[in-house]
Amino acid sequence: MMKPYAKSCEQNQAVILDVIKPLLANSQTVLEIGSGTGQHAVYFSQEIPHLYWQTSDCVEHHEGIQQWIDDVYNEKLLAPIALNVGKNRWPAHCYNTIFTANTLHIMSHKDVLALFAQLPTSLQEKGQFIVYGPFNYHGHYTSQSNERFDEWLHSRDPDSGIKDFEWLNELAGQAGLKLTEDYTMPANNRILCWQKV
Ligand SMILES: C[S@@+](CC[C@H](N)C(=O)[O-])C[C@H]1O[C@@H](n2cnc3c(N)ncnc32)[C@H](O)[C@@H]1O
Repeated sequence: MMKPYAKSCEQNQAVILDVIKPLLANSQTVLEIGSGTGQHAVYFSQEIPHLYWQTSDCVEHHEGIQQWIDDVYNEKLLAPIALNVGKNRWPAHCYNTIFTANTLHIMSHKDVLALFAQLPTSLQEKGQFIVYGPFNYHGHYTSQSNERFDEWLHSRDPDSGIKDFEWLNELAGQAGLKLTEDYTMPANNRILCWQKV
């Protein structure tokens, strides 16, 4: 299998790092949901070397993620675990931070519900949930390109699509988390950060 590569990761990883590095200063352990190619995991764990970074995704992505991991020497960057948030049993470990990029718009509403419902169990006290991606606000797209992207997502999979910030924030509240940050990012993306209170 050829090592997977996503140009988008190379384009967004530095700007994401600028935001998440200070947020992760007091974290020791991170669970990444939907590691995809594995590029973000390699980059962030190299740039924030005190972290134990647990990669995860559906099994079909594991070989590619492992190839990226094998190309760096970092014993704190951990081999992927099988985690489809709505289907698999979550790891028993409790993390300081759960991070995910560009996944909530791929997931169905049911999977997003399952993810938020798991946060109280999988996050430590004061743990945080950090999410990068596009979101809608007050029922509106934040750009025409996001609207076109959402149409394309629906045509591929009617259960997927850009999620409403207000819905996610309500789910976070039900899970005992409070919004601490909402950062504007390039290309009409955001970084949302919730903390367990
Ligand atoms: C668009 S890719 C993003 C990958 C990477 N995080 C990035 O930013 O490039 C979406 C990823 O979410 C994963 N994913 C989709 N549904 C999921 C679910 N229910 N549970 C866990 N991961 C899921 C996919 O397997 C895929 O790797």
